[in-house]
Amino acid sequence: MFGGISKTTLAVTLLAGSAAAIDLDIKDEQSIKDAAKTIASSTMNFYSDRDSDIPGIVSSSMFWEGSVLFSVMMRYWALTGDDSHNDAVSEGMYWVRGDNDDYMPANYSSYLGNDDQLNWGLAAMMAAEVDFPQKSSMPSWATLAENVWNSVSSRWDDDSCDGGLRWQIWAYQSGYGYKNAASNGGLFELSARLAHYTKNQTYSDWAEKIWDWSATTPLLKEKKWNIADTTSCEKNCSDHGDYQWTFNYGLYMSGAAYMYNVTEGESKWRTGLSGLLNTSQQFFPKKYGSDIMSEFTCEPIKKCDRNQILFKGLFAQELSLIAQVAPYTESDIMYLLQGSALGAAATCTGGKKNDLCSTAWYKDEYDGSDSIEQQISVTSVLVSNLVAFDKENLATQSTAKNSSASGTTTGSASATSSESTSTETGAGDKDNGAGVVSSGPIVLITAMLMGVLSFF
Ligand SMILES: *[C@@H]1O[C@H](CO)[C@@H](O)[C@H](O)[C@H]1NC(C)=O
Ligand SMILES: *[C@@H]1O[C@H](CO)[C@@H](O)[C@H](O)[C@H]1NC(C)=O
Ligand SMILES: *[C@@H]1O[C@H](CO)[C@@H](O)[C@H](O)[C@H]1NC(C)=O
Ligand SMILES: *[C@@H]1O[C@H](CO)[C@@H](O)[C@H](O)[C@H]1NC(C)=O
Ligand SMILES: *[C@@H]1O[C@H](CO)[C@@H](O)[C@H](O)[C@H]1NC(C)=O
Ligand SMILES: *[C@@H]1O[C@H](CO)[C@@H](O)[C@H](O)[C@H]1NC(C)=O
Repeated sequence: MFGGISKTTLAVTLLAGSAAAIDLDIKDEQSIKDAAKTIASSTMNFYSDRDSDIPGIVSSSMFWEGSVLFSVMMRYWALTGDDSHNDAVSEGMYWVRGDNDDYMPANYSSYLGNDDQLNWGLAAMMAAEVDFPQKSSMPSWATLAENVWNSVSSRWDDDSCDGGLRWQIWAYQSGYGYKNAASNGGLFELSARLAHYTKNQTYSDWAEKIWDWSATTPLLKEKKWNIADTTSCEKNCSDHGDYQWTFNYGLYMSGAAYMYNVTEGESKWRTGLSGLLNTSQQFFPKKYGSDIMSEFTCEPIKKCDRNQILFKGLFAQELSLIAQVAPYTESDIMYLLQGSALGAAATCTGGKKNDLCSTAWYKDEYDGSDSIEQQISVTSVLVSNLVAFDKENLATQSTAKNSSASGTTTGSASATSSESTSTETGAGDKDNGAGVVSSGPIVLITAMLMGVLSFF
């Protein structure tokens, strides 16, 4: 599927990898696990040392970040068996779930966007799919994911552009006038994964509806398989903000892969998946050997913000999920994940213990840019490589080890979730007015951050 890939590139990269501070033999399962353990530990050290003392909140200005950290750490546990970080992950996952169990906690609900909430829904989905231990006093992981789905899908907006989700939830936030790939692609991925997990037709129907609507806008151009970042309600979703991010491709591509699996190979989804995989090759630039993942919109000019540094971690994770649910892509995907992991590992020569890594993985050297975001993404690309050795399928409602538990709770979940959706809409209307006054500075900071995120 990817033209022009030569075996010599792999050999050269392997050589570079073996000179790295963390030893990595990408063909050896134990070697990958050892490397992942080292970087996962340094990741969790950053988490323990963070400023915030609230579980699950990595940084008060980036509500969504914990969702990325935890979904990477749950996948880490599932593929390595190392449960030493599970308690911290579990505590954080439950802490921020909010009064309505839908990841809109009161402390943040007045300024978070659809995409922020959706990423927590995707983390809960990951928990369900890997059978992450759940507490009997808590809603099941699948219930939490379904609650997020119910909350966000209720905001589908037919009043502009004949459909789609707005980027922001509240009109006072800059970004409300846009429909973006992160929100629509996020709901698409969550719908497809819920369809796969629950076999409930509602989620399949919505996945199809979101994909088809996206294809009427520049967010998903089916002819060229290009994904625009944003489009505006003012222009009836005909204009486009064209920055290219791995994140957006990962959302639409993984959703298409799950739908391909759910429909047992429908050509619509296979074409979409293959088309987007083709255009995703842009994130593996030829000049670095065509197999090292690069967030090329910001890396070469050294302008990746903290959100953007996380994108490659999510993209790697989604690629590994795609390899599982659409096995025809596995060899192409493993090739890309192997080169990327070797590149990433070669940057991990920072800090006293040589376990801190950099943003740009093509550089073969540590660039001094260490923080938790770099560690999360490198942990993810290492862990993602383990799917080559682990043939265990992702859990579904009927195969989950805790199937009786999650089965019962999911039944009652649907009731809870429709209740919580209506409560939340009611509360939201009130918050809306108050929020303008009370959360002014936070809104401003978030708007600035998010502005960087999407418009860069
Ligand atoms: C909300 O804020 C309160 C007060 O700072 C804190 O105790 C609580 O843990 C926070 N909850 C979340 C989910 O952020
Ligand atoms: C399975 O579910 C039950 C009830 O919800 C819970 O008590 C138990 O801890 C769960 N086990 C695992 C491994 O998650
Ligand atoms: C399917 O999911 C939707 C949305 O969560 C829910 O309203 C409906 O009750 C579910 N159907 C079944 C049969 O569980
Ligand atoms: C907006 O665009 C859609 C096609 O995407 C079209 O069907 C609709 O008529 C347009 N609406 C307006 C108000 O121009
Ligand atoms: C993807 O690229 C391959 C190789 O260039 C090509 O044969 C295939 O038709 C492309 N797939 C799609 C859906 O565009
Ligand atoms: C769906 O996924 C399973 C593994 O999770 C795989 O065995 C099966 O082949 C996939 N279906 C298709 C159509 O690729």
